[in-house]
Amino acid sequence: MTRIRAAITGIAAQVPDYVLTNDELANMVDTTDEWIMTRIGIRERRIIREPGEGSSFVGAAAVSKLLEKTQTTPPEVDMLICATVTPDHQFPATANIICDKVGIRNAFSFDLNAGCSGFLYALETGRRFVESGQYKKVVVVGAEKMSSIVDYQDRATCPIFGDGSGAVMLEPSEGENGIIDSILQSDGVGRIHLHQKAGGSVKPASIESVLAREHFIYQEGQAVFKWAVSKMADVSVEMMERHGLTSDTLHWLVPHQANMRIIEATAKRMGLPKEKVMINIERYGNTTAATLPLCLWEWENQLKKGDHLILATFGAGFTWGAMYLRWAY
Ligand code: UT7
Repeated sequence: MTRIRAAITGIAAQVPDYVLTNDELANMVDTTDEWIMTRIGIRERRIIREPGEGSSFVGAAAVSKLLEKTQTTPPEVDMLICATVTPDHQFPATANIICDKVGIRNAFSFDLNAGCSGFLYALETGRRFVESGQYKKVVVVGAEKMSSIVDYQDRATCPIFGDGSGAVMLEPSEGENGIIDSILQSDGVGRIHLHQKAGGSVKPASIESVLAREHFIYQEGQAVFKWAVSKMADVSVEMMERHGLTSDTLHWLVPHQANMRIIEATAKRMGLPKEKVMINIERYGNTTAATLPLCLWEWENQLKKGDHLILATFGAGFTWGAMYLRWAY
């Protein structure tokens, strides 16, 4: 029996119009464009400013463009997974809201939270449903309004994050192309270094929690940095070794965009030149579950059928992983 692989057959994205520059941030906190560029590598990020809009605002726009681009009608979609840490609401799932906004009525849809590894975890999940043979069209979308949980009084975190969304279509492919392998890992011990203190069931919202600014991202940057540098590179190198990939045969690294120095360290461990690494952190910052599809979307025209790609992430949880795929179109 021919093995069914899951392949990405289309990609679309949506970034908000508003551009928040480092110079504008320097009017809000004690920082400079030079510090942010040198230590993180971000010059600007996009922010959702439309009143009353959350992550589904960009998520639904990305999915709508994806359906149009892949000439898919809403009833054809079997399943939609939304990776996000900034859902529109605690419940229902943002995936359900996105489906409603784009007219998908009979799909199985849910959210997945794996921090900055969310898109990779969702891709792996969607992949398995396609491989089962029962699901023919699975949409995986990463959608974030990180600005809703960023403390714009905290200079150590506010330059990092941005808003945006990217979506891919997964479909069966019987050839050699598609998703080949993945290594996904997590270690909850890392939660002490990166979390949101209030708003969950441990500490529901209260006047005190709001005054203590506990609904924003809490991050111990250096600890997260050290873990990210070692874990993202470990799994990426392991993936290369498993499949006999070299810096010559691997065409692209698609890394999570958290810090330019983390990306460079990962590429160095893999022996890859910068030209083979997708990097757009300078323009979008860290959009959490949306970084990988935003890279694939921007590089889509340069990708060729059969290209070997490794996708790699590290994020809150801690969660991390690498996926090897051969581009299918
Ligand atoms: O995607 C989820 C996973 N997250 C990550 O991967 C983030 C990983 N961590 C990082 O990217 C980096 O740790 C940060 C970008 C968050 C911080 O960079 P760093 O080089 O680790 O800086 P630091 O925290 O060690 O701070 C160095 C100095 C401190 O001043 P003192 O104590 O040496 O006087 C900070 O107060 O830089 C100061 N600082 C700033 N200065 C100007 C921190 N933020 C800023 C700022 N502008 N925005």
